[in-house]
Amino acid sequence: MPALPKEGSIVVLTGAGISKESGLDTFRDKDGIWSRVRLEDVATPDGFRRDPARVHAFYNARRRSLAEGDIHPNPAHQALARLEMEWPGDVLVVTQNIDDLHERAGSGNLIHMHGELLKIRCQKCASPFAWTGDLGLEDKCPDCHRVGSLRPHVVWFGEMPLDMERIFEALEDCALFVSIGTSGHVYPAAGFVQTVRARGRAHTVELNLEPSEGASLFRETRMGPASRLVPAFVEELLSR
Ligand code: APR
Repeated sequence: MPALPKEGSIVVLTGAGISKESGLDTFRDKDGIWSRVRLEDVATPDGFRRDPARVHAFYNARRRSLAEGDIHPNPAHQALARLEMEWPGDVLVVTQNIDDLHERAGSGNLIHMHGELLKIRCQKCASPFAWTGDLGLEDKCPDCHRVGSLRPHVVWFGEMPLDMERIFEALEDCALFVSIGTSGHVYPAAGFVQTVRARGRAHTVELNLEPSEGASLFRETRMGPASRLVPAFVEELLSR
């Protein structure tokens, strides 16, 4: 039976729970974002077609709190950056989060599979570019100069997550898969543990405040706040 490895590559999947102690709300907890707004209104292509101003307002508020607020990486983000620096093999962090706390903590090998709040893109022409202020219907694409064609660089329900090929390659190869702070409700991320287990060779660990939907699929689960669990887990891995 696979155990914690001493070498080989590691894939870490993170969700909203890792940023909770930095002051950012999760989605499905009692006081979460989806208890205040309907995801159909603000996180689907249909919602954007129906009322783009509402969608812009939703992401503008989140962008503002991330860019201007008192939001910083916490010890869990920092521990993952340390793991990437000190582990003898590859460490890939795949995050469902659109905040920039992993990169601010120092993670470099990072995939934002659900996009990035601090980027936008033109629906007509351009690849994503950095954007820290508010975005509105009156804004013009700097490349093609169309007005009203800009949208958040965020993957909505019904859209394809980003970089999936690279993610599945890493999952196929890894010696350890760790899932942190995600409720396991949203696919394809919720299915990564099954992809890894199907090969049978890798160890799988869930670190979460409470058992996720797929908790029974992991070989090992540890429950508690990410800011405590993740540094302790990284310390254990690096001291083996
Ligand atoms: N430490 C660890 N885990 C925590 C903490 C904490 N301090 N606080 C909350 N959690 C856990 C919760 O128990 C829950 O299992 O984090 C998880 C958050 O789950 P969700 O709110 O569903 O967030 P996530 O899994 O990232 O959502 C996936 O859904 O709406 C979409 O696109 C959005 O990327 C998001 C996706």
